[in-house]
Order: sequence, then C-alpha cells, then structure tokens
Amino acid sequence: MSDSRLSWLTSFTRELMRYDDTSAVLDRILLEARKASCADAGTVFLVEGDSLIFAYTHNDTLFSVETAYKYAYADARLPITSQSIAGACAVSRQPIRLDDVRHLPEGVPFRFNDSFDRATGYRTVSVLGIPLLGREGRPLGVIQLINSKGPDGSPQPFTEEMENFLVFFSVQAVSALERSLLTREMVHRMQKMAALNDPKETGPHAERVGAIAAEIYQRWAEKCAIPVDARRSFRSNIRLAAMLHDLGKVAIPHNVLKKPGRLTLDEFEIIKTHCAEGAKLFKTASLDVDSMSRDIAQHHHQKWNGTGYTGDPDVPILAGEEIPLAARITAVADVFDALVSARCYKPAWTWEEAVTEIRKSAGSHFDPAVVDAFLEVEDTVRNIFERYPDIESSH
Ligand code: C2E
Ligand code: SIN
Ligand code: SIN
Ligand code: FE
Ligand code: FE
Repeated sequence: MSDSRLSWLTSFTRELMRYDDTSAVLDRILLEARKASCADAGTVFLVEGDSLIFAYTHNDTLFSVETAYKYAYADARLPITSQSIAGACAVSRQPIRLDDVRHLPEGVPFRFNDSFDRATGYRTVSVLGIPLLGREGRPLGVIQLINSKGPDGSPQPFTEEMENFLVFFSVQAVSALERSLLTREMVHRMQKMAALNDPKETGPHAERVGAIAAEIYQRWAEKCAIPVDARRSFRSNIRLAAMLHDLGKVAIPHNVLKKPGRLTLDEFEIIKTHCAEGAKLFKTASLDVDSMSRDIAQHHHQKWNGTGYTGDPDVPILAGEEIPLAARITAVADVFDALVSARCYKPAWTWEEAVTEIRKSAGSHFDPAVVDAFLEVEDTVRNIFERYPDIESSH
C-alpha cells in the first residue's frame, strides 16, 4: 500500500471515530469506498436478524448525496441467502466482483435483481460487493458498489486492486461501524426504558423527533454553508440526542403525565421539571452526543421570544440565538410531531393544520430560520411518519 493511501486511511479512520450515529458512519464509508473505486453508485446493507436491510445508498446519476438521506428511510429487506449478490457476499464472507451483471459467470448461485433498474431507468453493469465482517468473522453487512466510471464516465469493470484495497478498508470501516452501533444501541435502550412508562406516546414520537430534527438541521446547515465535516458530526449527534428530549418525563407521576384533560397550573409546574430531570441524566457528559442531549433536554421548551421554561429556577430563560441550536431545532420537530399525533389530552391535528401552526409561530415560539428549513423538508418528514408510525391502539 502506498504511503498516501495509508495516511488517507489513518485520517479517515480518525475522522470516522468522531461519529456516534450509524447513518453518518455509513454515509462516510460509502463516500470513501466509492472514491476508491470510482463507483457511480453504492448501497450499504446491514444485517438485522436473518435479513439484510437496505441501510444507506448513494447514486450520482439519479440523486445527489444530500437527497440520499431521504432514501435512508426506505425499509427494503433481503433474506441472507446466496440468491442475491449482497446475500451471497454475506453468506460466503468473500468479496464478489462482477464485470457485467447481465452476463454472469457460469455456476454462480445468485441472479441479478433488476427491479431497481426497472423502477428507475438506471443501468447497472459492473458490481463489487465487499462483506463487512465483525468479530469472529460475523457478517455485519455488505457494501455493494455499482458501475466503476472510466475516464469518459462509462461503466467499466472494478479492478482486482480496487477489491484488495476495499477489503483492507472494510476492516477500518467495521471498527467505526461497531462503535456507532453500540452508541445507537445504548440510546435506543435508554429510550425504550423511558417508553416502558408510556409505550404508546413515547416510542414512535422519540424516533420521529430524532429523524425530523436531523432533516431540519441538514437543510439549515446547507443554507448557512456550514462545512461538510462539521455538518456530518452535528447531524449525527442531533439524530440521537433529539430522541432523548423527553427522557425526563420518566420522573413525572403518571396521574399528571397521563391526565386525560387539561392540566391545572400546579400540575403544569410538575410537568415543567421534565426538562431539568432529563438534563441531570447527562450531567457528566463525556461524548458530544451527551452534551447535546443535555442541551436539548434542558432547553427544548424555550421559545425564541424569551418565554418558555427550563424546569429549573437556577437555569435562566434564554431568548433567540442564546438558545442552543440543537434545542431550537428540536422544539420545532417536537411540537410538529405532538400536533399531528393523538395525545391522551388531545386529538391529532391534520397535517396542514400543524404545518400552518408551525409557520405562524416563526419569530414568536420558533427561530424563523429553523422554521424555513422545516418547511423545505416537509416531504422527507412525511417519509419519516411512514417509517415510524404510531402504535395502532393509541387513539
Ligand atoms: P407533548 O405532548 O410532547 O407536547 C410537546 C409540545 O407540543 C407542547 O409543549 C406544546 O408546545 C405543543 N403542543 C402539543 N399539543 C398542543 C396543542 O394541542 N396545542 C398547541 N398550541 N400546542 C401543542 P408544552 O405545552 O410545554 O407541554 C409539554 C408537555 O406537557 C406535553 O408534551 C405533555 O406531555 C404535557 N401536557 C401539556 N399540556 C397538557 C394537557 O393539557 N394535559 C396533559 N395531560 N398533559 C399536557
Ligand atoms: C455546526 O453545524 O457544527 C454548528 C452550528 C452552530 O452551533 O451554530
Ligand atoms: C393528517 O393528520 O392529516 C394525516 C397526516 C399525514 O399526511 O400523514
Ligand atoms: Fe418536552
Ligand atoms: Fe416531546
């Protein structure tokens, strides 16, 4: 391996270790794998139970890296069998390199599934599948690269050198991936503990608020020209941290939290403490995602105009840009989600009513720049509601 590739790999690995969120790690892995192989497109599949789930995708010809986030909510599954290219790669734990998927070598167990090509008009020619192997060779997922681009942009076969390099690369990728999966598992575990207290309203609400906040941030950051690296790490952190915004509700007595009707002033004072209770859980923040979780828990009911609450008399009420950005974004995601959802104390609003309310509250309750970003990602927010629907009996 040349020195320049080695130093690139070292800095890539160091950078990956900063990401706590799996999507950000996958995004980065795919970007670098595509660069190293000149691939026009690529997908990462992750093993979940006995399936491979379509976890992440890029395609230069059909959509930009920025809009690829939208497709991250697609939930396609493949069984882990040798009948598909990605499945065979996971089963054999070996790379698979195909020069032309329409002329497969004799005797291979898989067939090329052309449903994506047929649905989109894309034309897949060459494929390189690289297994992501965890400890003891356990398959964690597969990187599938498509159409290595020649100098004129036409699809060429992937080379053996690309394959060898990517096998080496995948070892670094896996260590970052495993770490992010651990962080994600811990956050989900905390979230599930909170949901034990309130399974119907808390679980999907938290998932959606995390996903919506990440989308709003992404658009806000593009508009503000935040550098790509800072953007990736902030996005990966807010995706997880916003999920935990209401963690402090575990400290609120059930007869108050689940009261069917309006709260008395005293009861609302009790509710307000959920911000401070949540923030306390992250007092000893060690990761960036922990300190962001603390900021969001503490400040997500603060308003742009300097009203709202922190739930703690020792934490002053802030206004405008004094309120941490992550909390300003989470406030919009949280209220929108609360409005379109049924709660024990109110019916669901329609989508349009909720959007109108958010728009109307720009400059009073919400940061106007955050509201603008929210309005621009409305379509993606719809995908998020499809991906994380409410639990049936919640009405
Ligand atoms: P939540 O249900 O997750 O609601 C989050 C925020 O969404 C609310 O913060 C509020 O800003 C907004 N929101 C939700 N529903 C409505 C609505 O029907 N109209 C308007 N204009 N805004 C709405 P807020 O008010 O600080 O409440 C914080 C939490 O307190 C709520 O979280 C909920 O758990 C509880 N809560 C608020 N009001 C009531 C109530 O009347 N009865 C009960 N049982 N709980 C309530
Ligand atoms: C960032 O995108 O990394 C920081 C944005 C901010 O806090 O203003
Ligand atoms: C509604 O409450 O009007 C439906 C929400 C949606 O469009 O998914
Ligand atoms: Fe809250
Ligand atoms: Fe909430």
